[in-house]
Parts: sequence; C-alpha cells; structure tokens
Amino acid sequence: MNLLESSTDDISSGYVFDPGWDRETERLRTNEALWDPGTVARFDQIGVAPGWSCLEVGAGYGSAAQWLADRVGPGGRVVATDLEVERLGWLSGHQVEVWCHDLRSDDLPADAFDLIHSRMLIQHLPDREAAIARLVRALRPGGTLFLEDTDSLPLFRSFRSTDFLQDVREAGYGLMAQAGHEPRGGHFDLQAARALGLDAQADGRVVMVRGGSPQARHYMLWLDYMRPRILAAGLLTAERIDEALAEMADPENYWLSQILISTIARRPSGSPGAGR
Ligand SMILES: C[S@@+](CC[C@H](N)C(=O)[O-])C[C@H]1O[C@@H](n2cnc3c(N)ncnc32)[C@H](O)[C@@H]1O
Repeated sequence: MNLLESSTDDISSGYVFDPGWDRETERLRTNEALWDPGTVARFDQIGVAPGWSCLEVGAGYGSAAQWLADRVGPGGRVVATDLEVERLGWLSGHQVEVWCHDLRSDDLPADAFDLIHSRMLIQHLPDREAAIARLVRALRPGGTLFLEDTDSLPLFRSFRSTDFLQDVREAGYGLMAQAGHEPRGGHFDLQAARALGLDAQADGRVVMVRGGSPQARHYMLWLDYMRPRILAAGLLTAERIDEALAEMADPENYWLSQILISTIARRPSGSPGAGR
C-alpha cells in the first residue's frame, strides 16, 4: 500500500486538508503545523506591534504573513514574497501585499521594514551571505532580522533504536546537500548576521513528532518527494522506503525533528545598510 495515497482522515489531531490541494501545498501546511507555534512565540518576544512594517520572505503558504498582518493591523504593512505566489492569493483578504521575488537576484526597497522574517529558505540558497546582506539593506535602522534555518543532525532520533530512520535521513539529506542545501544552515545565519555588524542572538528548538500526526505527514511527504532521487542513486530500496513510511505513519512511534535555529538580529540605529 502507498501510505501517501491513504485518506487524510487517517491523520489525527484535526488538522484537515482539502483533498483537492496539491501535495506541495500540503507539505507547506504541515511545515507550518510543525514550526508556527515557536515562530509566533518569537514574534511576540520581538514585540511585533500595531503599525509595524513587515516583510515575510519565501512565505510558502503564508501563515506567518497572516499572523503578522493580524498583529500590525490596518496602520501597518505586511509584504509576503516567494518565487511561487499562486498559493498566497488568499492573503489579499488579510491586507497582505504579495510580491513575486527571487531572493537570489532581486532587489528590495532599502530601509523599508521594521521586521524581516524568513524561515527555511536561506539554507537552500547557494550564496547565503549575499541573500542575508540584501535583507539587511531592506531593514530600517533599528529594525529586526529574524531568520530560521535548521541543523538536521538530530532528525529522527527516537526511543525506538539508535538507528531509527537514520538511513533515510542520511540518504535524503545527502542528496539535498548535493543540490546545495546546507544541513547546518541555522548556524550560518547567526554568523552572517554577526559578520554584517548586527547585534545577533540565536536559540534552537525541536519538536517531538508523533507518527501519524500532521507533523509526521510532513516527513512522509518529504520522503515521497525524495523517493525517485533516492532510488535513482541506489541509496535505499523501494521496500525500505515503504517500511520507513509505515514507521512514520505509526502513532506508537515518536522522534525528534531537526533543530530549528532562530537568529534574531538588530540592525544598529543610524547605521548605513550592510554592503552599501
Ligand atoms: C521550505 S519552504 C518554507 C516556506 C515557509 N517559509 C515556511 O516555513 O512555512 C521554502 C519556500 O521558499 C520559496 N523559495 C525558494 N527559493 C526562493 C527564492 N530564491 N526566493 C524566494 N523564495 C524562494 C519556495 O517557493 C518555498 O515557498
């Protein structure tokens, strides 16, 4: 049985997907289910307030942009960017401006935003330092840069066994690294922000994922996406991938997510933008 063809009713905890949605939308929404609670806690810690001007970069499906728009209110401004903006149309009902923007190459307005947030994008970019410098230039003096990227080493650690899903992690992340993904991306965000002269601090969080939950489904969708690449590289058999998907679907299993490292960095007041 292909576990990913099973009904979404199988997923516990009430996080329901429209069966008409495409798989990438579901992957983005399950990513939000994993990480939004911690991101929102950090928005509160930063002190996002009515009237702020915010930029959400690589917005995905857009839950963070929606939260920001609700917080800054009609006197504020939220811009959500992505390479693919079709999924962000619904945000116009929340007064969010949606821009099609490539962080690798497209400029942003200078000195424009009180807060810039980007989650799980910069770790995929070939020139991470240039991307972060572009974001810093778009911050108002005194503004806050909030970057979230991962350290993938603890992924799938579990009470089950020391090697639980470790072959899957090594196969998938090995191929992602060949494609340019940095498995220690969150660490580099902190160092890049410091190198650009920002006052930067970081912390990390992990989620204990239960098999069969919406959070677990995110990892099932990831493995399904990686399946043809893993098979083509001869790293795992189809039977082993099916077995791993069954382990991820089993509510008796629990495992750790990656560490998501949150770097919160303040551009000094009155400073010229980085790299100008
Ligand atoms: C892993 S998803 C994360 C989505 C969202 N930030 C979240 O955490 O829920 C990465 C997002 O970055 C977008 N993206 C990829 N490359 C990009 C680029 N060069 N410029 C802007 N967005 C990009 C993708 O389309 C996708 O929506």
